[in-house]
Order: sequence, then C-alpha cells, then structure tokens
Amino acid sequence: MSNATSHQPGMNGVGRQRAMLRPRYAQIVGWGTALPERIVTNDDLARLVDTSDDWIRSRTGIQERRMATSPKESTATLAIQAAREALRVADVPASSLDVVICATTSPEYLCPSTACLVQNALGAPRAGAFDLNAACSGFVYGLSVARSLVLSGDADYVLVVGAETLTRFLDWTDRNTCILFGDGAGAVLVAASHEPGGILSCVLGSDGSGSDLLMVPAGGSAHPPTMETVANRMHMLRMDGKAVFRFAVQAMADGTRDAVAKAGLSLAEVDLVIPHQANVRIIQSSVVKQLKIPEQKVFVNLERYGNTSAASIPIALCEAIEAGRVRPGQNLVLAGFGAGLTWAATAIHWCAPVERTPAPWWKDAQREAGYQLASARSTWRRLARRAYADVMGPADAPTVRGRLRTAIDAGRSAWQTHKPSSRR
Ligand code: ACO
Repeated sequence: MSNATSHQPGMNGVGRQRAMLRPRYAQIVGWGTALPERIVTNDDLARLVDTSDDWIRSRTGIQERRMATSPKESTATLAIQAAREALRVADVPASSLDVVICATTSPEYLCPSTACLVQNALGAPRAGAFDLNAACSGFVYGLSVARSLVLSGDADYVLVVGAETLTRFLDWTDRNTCILFGDGAGAVLVAASHEPGGILSCVLGSDGSGSDLLMVPAGGSAHPPTMETVANRMHMLRMDGKAVFRFAVQAMADGTRDAVAKAGLSLAEVDLVIPHQANVRIIQSSVVKQLKIPEQKVFVNLERYGNTSAASIPIALCEAIEAGRVRPGQNLVLAGFGAGLTWAATAIHWCAPVERTPAPWWKDAQREAGYQLASARSTWRRLARRAYADVMGPADAPTVRGRLRTAIDAGRSAWQTHKPSSRR
C-alpha cells in the first residue's frame, strides 16, 4: 500500500503539493485490542442480582464479559495498549501520528481528555488529541472524523481508539443494566493512501429527544457530585431497555442501508457486517431480518465480551480479522447505536493485507524503547515544569526572581512563535 504521507523522507514542498493533487483515500492500516484479564460469567452475576445464566443468554446472547478490576486497568491503560498494538500492526511510529481520537463514555477523567493521555504514553509529539462522546456509536463517529481529516489533507495518520470501563459506572443492584456491559478497548490507524478504497462513506445520526432513555444523570454540570447524588446512585447508568431496543433495531438497519447506498454499493455487495455488540436479538431483528443480510455475513462476538460500548466495534473488527473473516477486496459495514440517542454506520472497501509477517525482534525492542523514552521525557517535562515554578516563584511578583521569570517566559513565548515547527 502506498501511503500518501507528507512524512516521506526527502519529499519537499513541491513533491508534497503534487502528492496532494492525486486523489486521497482513508485506509485502515493497523488494528489492535486490549481486554481486562478478569472474566465475569452470567453465573457470577446471578450471585449478585436476581438473574440467571439462562435469562441473560436467551434475552441478550451474552455468556461472559471482561471487567477491569485491577487498579492498573483503566480506560486510558486499555486504550494505550490497543493503540500500541495498532501501531505495531501498521509498522508506523507514534511520531508520525497527526491526530489521536478517543471515543469513550467512561473517560479516565472529566478533564483532561483520555486521548491526551494516550498521546503522551505513545510519545506522539506532533499529534492533536481529543475525546469524542457519542456513546456506543463513538468509534464510527471517530472513523468519520478521521476520514475527513485524511481526505482534506489535514492529516496523514489518525489513530481512532474506542475504550471503555463502563462497569465502573454500573449499578450492581440493577439487573436491567449490570448484566449487559463489559470493559475493553480497540484501536485502528487510519492512513492517507493513493490506493482507491478504504473508508468509502459515513452516516451519522442523532435524536436528543431520547437522551433520557440511557444516561448517567450526575457528575456533569446539571448535577455536580454531592453526597445526595452519590446516595441516590445518580452516577450510575440508567436505561429504559425496551425503548432503547426498539430504537436500536431501526437505527442499525437504517444506518447500514444509508451507508451502503452512499458508498454506491448494494446490500448484496456487502461481504461482512460488524454491528455494535449489544444484544444478539437487536442484530437479528435489524441486520438479518430487516435487511435480509445472511447470518454468515454478520460478525458476532458479544457472547464473550457483552456490550463494551465504543470499544465493541473495533474489538469485533480485530477478531474478525484474526478469524480470517476480513480479506482485501471485501466490502465491510460497521454500524452502531447508543446513548444520545446516536447512530452511525460506515462502508469500507478493505485494502490492507491481513496476513502479516512477524516483525523482527529488534523492531519490537525499538518500539518498546521508544515508549520508555516517551515516558521518561514526559516525567522530565513534568518535573522541570514544577521545579521551574518552585525556583522562580510566581510570575509578576515584585522581586528580582519574579521579574526574571516574566522575562524568561516572554523570551520563551517569542521563541515558540518564531521557531519553524510548532512543537512545544
Ligand atoms: N434477569 C432476570 N429477569 C430480568 C432481568 C435480568 N437481568 N432484567 C429484566 N428482567 C425481567 C424484567 O423485570 C421483566 O420482568 P416482568 O415481566 O416481571 O416485569 C422481564 O424480565 C422482561 O423484561 P424486559 O425489559 O421486557 O426484557 P427484554 O426482553 O426487553 O430484555 C434488555 C431486556 C436485555 C435490557 C433489552 O431490552 C435490551 O437489550 N435493550 C437494549 C439495551 C441496549 O442495547 N443498551 C445499550 C445501548 S448502547 C450504549 O450507548 C451504552
């Protein structure tokens, strides 16, 4: 695959402009997942709430899910692990990344974004980074943004991560919700290419009139955390399951149909649908029954992971690739729905080779060394920032040190403005 990248060594301004004049396509060239170690079965849940393995299997298709129980596992750590794997598969260094997008409803913090933590851990100094909240549709929303950035020429490499630890926001006394969700992360690297294909079309939708159907009521500006919000379990997910089910069936069918039509394809030309993994009955009713797409063309893995929200589609995509269900030349549809309410679908003409020769050991070692270096650099910058503030004291203080700091800060900002790269 020929990547239309402005990072090619030796490519000058004219060469880059010529490359920009050729049609650009947004290809998925790397992929990876990360899953918590702990497996929680339906029987485990039946010891917590009034439910049974039989009820959960027959109503949802879920048999078990992964749960982030170790303090070392969080949305950011899972996202970083999945992102590193995607870069390894693509054989692209983190230094080439232009943008990091993290789709999540369970971010590491309200602020800063989880994407910034990923950017820092990867050591991606040129990358912009932001989170995207479209609930379970978030990953496909992220792909749509990545495609636009690449096609416009604003970015050559965009990392799109879907990462969640929603089990940390579940009410473990509510059998309507606690049986459904699991934790995990999936990531893809979207790259500019001159090879026709890749992400052909994206369809995004929303209906905020259904915002009350699936929500975490407190923790935002409407209800900041108080003793009362905690006592009333308002920081946990609440859902009207039946209403979401009805919406989901229609949204997934409409989204798939629209994305396929927008790509100039027919449903018969679709080789594989990777739907959001919420409930096997939703997938059956929408994609299989309404759109009449044969079951063997639909990828399902929710029996092992439950609903991992924004992570569900990239995790399923990676598993479909591993299972040999994705081949170059095939047409794929990824379709999701979620809180908001939101829905999103994308049609992809897959081009990247899926069989990879294992990288030589030194490449992995080099990559690992790069991450260690990024971590050391980050720690150093943090310490240096702190030490500088401690030694110099507050800026504008009427002391010699205060005046010195003001002068240094002014000099630094002038240098930042005039240096050739905008790297900080
Ligand atoms: N175990 C045993 N019984 C249960 C359980 C449970 N875990 N949960 C509900 N029940 C009971 C109900 O109380 C009800 O009992 P009743 O008839 O005595 O009142 C009965 O089972 C049927 O309940 P329903 O809600 O009608 O069950 P339904 O078949 O609709 O399945 C479910 C419920 C699985 C939640 C389904 O509605 C669903 O999957 N909805 C979509 C949810 C979803 O996908 N959400 C994620 C969106 S993505 C995102 O953004 C996070």
